[in-house]
Amino acid sequence: DWSMSDFLTEAKGAIRTMVGDGMVIGAVSGGVDSTVAAVLMKEAIGDQFHAFLVDNGVLRKNEATEVMERLASRCGVNLKLVDASEIFLQKLKGVTDPEKKRKIIGNTFIECFEKEASQLKANFLLQGTLYPDVIESTSHKGPSATIKTHHNVGGLPAHMKLKLIEPLRFLFKDEVRKLGLELGIESESIYRHPFPGPGLAIRILGEVTANRLKALREADKIFLEELRSAGLYRNIGQAFAALLPVKAVGVMGDKRTYEEVIVLRAVKTTDFMTADWFDLPTPLLRKISSRVVNEIRGVNRVTYDITSKPPGTIEWE
Ligand code: XMP
Repeated sequence: DWSMSDFLTEAKGAIRTMVGDGMVIGAVSGGVDSTVAAVLMKEAIGDQFHAFLVDNGVLRKNEATEVMERLASRCGVNLKLVDASEIFLQKLKGVTDPEKKRKIIGNTFIECFEKEASQLKANFLLQGTLYPDVIESTSHKGPSATIKTHHNVGGLPAHMKLKLIEPLRFLFKDEVRKLGLELGIESESIYRHPFPGPGLAIRILGEVTANRLKALREADKIFLEELRSAGLYRNIGQAFAALLPVKAVGVMGDKRTYEEVIVLRAVKTTDFMTADWFDLPTPLLRKISSRVVNEIRGVNRVTYDITSKPPGTIEWE
């Protein structure tokens, strides 16, 4: 794409001019925006960019390792893994309120960030802000901004005297994807479904415990694996499994069971402000359900969410 290659050349030049011989830090999640922003920085200023990935203990199965592999090993980004999972999980103990979970995760993330930032003498902070984020945060029109607290924009402590660098702030999502392809990022990263900052914590309804995390990680992995092998992943806007805060009675062999319930959610959406549930083929649902109950200890029931947004939201919390 000629226009994207022009954009790339210009963006790199602008970043170099802005940064000079300064240092930039930035957190990456492995999502499309932070991945593209990080690789762009690496292309522009190499190791003057210091990225880090915070393992908050509520990432999906193998996610931290996979992001490290993709961004550090394959793209050459100067990326550090900060394993803070114990701290996050300790703070989440006993917490069931969704907004409290979000606050704990948001605040703990900022603490981790400040700790990393204070060790480096950075002058700039990279943010993967896109044009729609800019509009939503200035017009106050986005209903999701008031319904749930999102913390992708802002949240930067005032005393941190870092200048913001937002190389994607004039781009829409599809343009970020094009830029990512131009940068040679593999399509698995480019077309990845969004994953919320509070991670699996808001997909475990009720308390986040080690056993429940383990069960949900497995269920989510099976679900996404089956969607990919059925060739449906890219037709879906977002898909995930969640763990309900109820137990259900079941039977296994000649024994009564009383175990966890998984709900599968897959939606079609363009802007995530509205969404429709995705009509998955019955044989695929059958396969996923039987894998989930057979392969995961402690789960005896699988349900499929057939609610659109509105009135539902995409997430359950
Ligand atoms: P809802 O559930 O509001 O989700 O329909 C819309 C989109 O936003 C994501 N989401 C979040 N992302 N922090 C995030 O970074 C959050 O607290 C959060 N809550 C929801 C959700 O996954 C979907 O893509």
